[in-house]
Amino acid sequence: MNRVDGKVAIISGGARGIGGMSAQKLAEAGAKVVITDLREDEAQVTLAAIKKAGGEAKFFKHDVAQEEQWQAAVKFTVQSYGGVDILLNNAGIAGAAKPLEELSLDSWRRLMSINLDGVFLGMKHVIPSMKSRAHMWPGGGSIISISSIMGFIGGARSAAYCASKGGVRLMTKAAAIELAPAKIRVNSVHPGFINTPLLRAGEQAMNQRQEGGFQKFVDDVVSRHPLGRLGEEKDIAHAVRFLASDDSAFMTGTEVVVDGGYLAQ
Ligand SMILES: NC(=O)c1ccc[n+]([C@@H]2O[C@H](COP(=O)([O-])OP(=O)(O)OC[C@H]3O[C@@H](n4cnc5c(N)ncnc54)[C@H](O)[C@@H]3O)[C@@H](O)[C@H]2O)c1
Repeated sequence: MNRVDGKVAIISGGARGIGGMSAQKLAEAGAKVVITDLREDEAQVTLAAIKKAGGEAKFFKHDVAQEEQWQAAVKFTVQSYGGVDILLNNAGIAGAAKPLEELSLDSWRRLMSINLDGVFLGMKHVIPSMKSRAHMWPGGGSIISISSIMGFIGGARSAAYCASKGGVRLMTKAAAIELAPAKIRVNSVHPGFINTPLLRAGEQAMNQRQEGGFQKFVDDVVSRHPLGRLGEEKDIAHAVRFLASDDSAFMTGTEVVVDGGYLAQ
């Protein structure tokens, strides 16, 4: 099930977290994977895990906010593996949790440059190669962008993040309509709170700052997920693998919510 044999995938922010696990699951299912990221050391750990499991993957150092680096990443992938069939736009940052009146324009722009420009540029630069190969697969080419439950709902001190993830959600639909005639499918994935390095980034500061610290934050977050736990990286990677495979051949322009029931309430 959900095989992607012979397909070529680019995964932005694939060094660790959701992207790293998605790289492992896609490689396990037969894809050749190019992991792009700013973090070289963590990417090497993920590459080693893929190779140990018998998979095929390479790393390309890449800042998703820079257009010429996207061009170089796609060129590297085409030279390495012959083309691109799957793009996972995963790289993203949470940004500073600040009230709107204290959020600087620089912070806003930095977050948008990664979470939104990065997704736009990724789509833009893989399309030519995807178009030339989409006919090879029953499910055509597949672009998957990681949005969030925060692409549906707001949260205090999260205006930039919510705006970026809502933007990813609707950019996905526009691209899906535009690219359907070329047999390229475009879908967004909306995780609830997932136990990744991004979620744990505030652990030390929270432990110093507030009563109950990080554990209290986690308990509170868990209580908002009806399934009663944080998501795991593989919960999202399994949805990504499905959307990348021909098993999802009739899905485009849609939102795949993987949130333990968070948004159902
Ligand atoms: N963890 C969660 O609870 C959660 C929930 C909803 C959505 N998401 C989204 O999932 C995606 C992955 O998040 P994660 O939790 O795995 O985070 P993470 O920090 O563990 O991994 C993100 C990766 O993206 C890379 N990255 C960041 N900026 C980059 C840039 N400019 N260019 C290239 N790579 C860059 C990082 O180096 C890192 O390896 C993000 O888009 C995030 O917004 C996460």
